[in-house]
Amino acid sequence: MNTFAVILAAGKGKRMKSSKPKVLHEVLGKPMLQYAIDAVKRLNPKKIIVVVNTGAEEIKKRINDEKITFVLQKELLGTGNALLEAKKEIDSSDGTIVVLNGDSPLIRAETLKKLLSNHRKYKNALSFLSFTDENLSGYGRIFRDQNSRVIGIVEDKHTTEAQKKEFKELNAGVYAMQSEALSNLGKLKINSSSGEYYLTDIVKLMSDKGDKVEAYDCPAEEVRGVNTRLELHQVTEVLNKRVISKLMEDGVTFIDPQTSFVHTSVSIGKDSVIYPSTYIEGNTVIGKECVIYPGARIFNSKLGNKVTIKDNTVIEESKIGDGSQIGPFAHLRPHSSIGRNAKIGNFVEIKKSAIGDGTKASHLSYLGDAVIGKDVNIGAGTITCNYDGDRKHTTVIGSGVFIGSDTQIVAPVNIGKGAYVAAGATVTKDVPSNALAISRTKQENIKDWAIKRKERVKS
Ligand code: UD1
Ligand code: MG
Repeated sequence: MNTFAVILAAGKGKRMKSSKPKVLHEVLGKPMLQYAIDAVKRLNPKKIIVVVNTGAEEIKKRINDEKITFVLQKELLGTGNALLEAKKEIDSSDGTIVVLNGDSPLIRAETLKKLLSNHRKYKNALSFLSFTDENLSGYGRIFRDQNSRVIGIVEDKHTTEAQKKEFKELNAGVYAMQSEALSNLGKLKINSSSGEYYLTDIVKLMSDKGDKVEAYDCPAEEVRGVNTRLELHQVTEVLNKRVISKLMEDGVTFIDPQTSFVHTSVSIGKDSVIYPSTYIEGNTVIGKECVIYPGARIFNSKLGNKVTIKDNTVIEESKIGDGSQIGPFAHLRPHSSIGRNAKIGNFVEIKKSAIGDGTKASHLSYLGDAVIGKDVNIGAGTITCNYDGDRKHTTVIGSGVFIGSDTQIVAPVNIGKGAYVAAGATVTKDVPSNALAISRTKQENIKDWAIKRKERVKS
């Protein structure tokens, strides 16, 4: 039997007060909609249909996935109308359609699988997920008759206080239905107060006809919908907790899990210690026994084992070998690769450069478009002058080189293995291996100059 997935993502998201489509708002670095897509992919559906309207082009561009069929809902006439639009893309008469909202990023694939298997096992016409949480508002409420049969869903704003007391089960907005159920969409009546066709109204239509409709309880945490910025924050908090708890289970120490933010695609090895106020983002891989000190942000990077990232350091799309130390206050910009046991220290910026094993740049340097060998010492205040105003040029520094402090290296230039560059040099020519490059005016000491000056000032 074919499975089709339909994700409803056309809504305006008015309550977000944003110029960006609601489903593109990010939770731990990923648009909300992507979470729904990733979850339904695990059901191996024949098709994934995403219904869009507000910001359709922006959504298509951001999601950029040829496996998705986007359907345009011409007018925002409610969730019932949104599914009706998706119906044209469902080309099977014996399929199961899984429908979910694009604004509920906490849903787990396992929960969808369970819904689908219950739906098929009990041969239901329509199944959906329910939950209870007395503290939440804004959700549809499930009505049952004396025999506990589901007879309808009524939206929060259309429910009386008495009904709220009687019926506590809420609608998660996640459904599995047989394709025949879709024929009911044409029969939905517009809700006169909101001007929308509610998908939830098919529950009553089907139940009245005697179709088998069932609700299955699921963890409240998973079905939190995001309609406001506050809910966006709450969902982020839940997801972050989920990610960090799993890492802690696998042997990672977090000093303060509430102030570390770790994206879902990150992996961290055993016995690594993560200090507070840290952001570990994208497809970052951190090895074993690493220490990440406060204020670090690490994005799409790969760290070996026993790497130390000291306070207030930014690492973007870079690689760091085993045993290296970076920071405090360092910045590795994209495409930098640091070897093993290297040291990149205070206020050092590195861009698109390869730094060899055991090399040290401990203070105040800019190294851009450089290829630097092993065991090189880069003195404080070294600058690779890589930009001539039009183009970028490469600096090559061989293994074992010693660069004295306050040196400018004007690229393109090559400093041979084992060479020394004296402090304060401006290197504009290649330096042969083992040579000393020195470029400074000779120092002159004027005897008793200060005493004579004082006498001059007095008279
Ligand atoms: C909906 C359900 C409610 C449920 C809740 C769970 C309805 C009528 N109500 O309410 O019972 O408890 O989800 O989160 O279905 N959308 C469209 N086209 C539209 C309108 C909405 O595609 O014309 C999309 C939205 O982008 C959103 C989803 O459908 O992703 C749900 O819409 P939303 O307005 O957030 O519905 P809720 O009020 O949350
Ligand atoms: Mg919603």
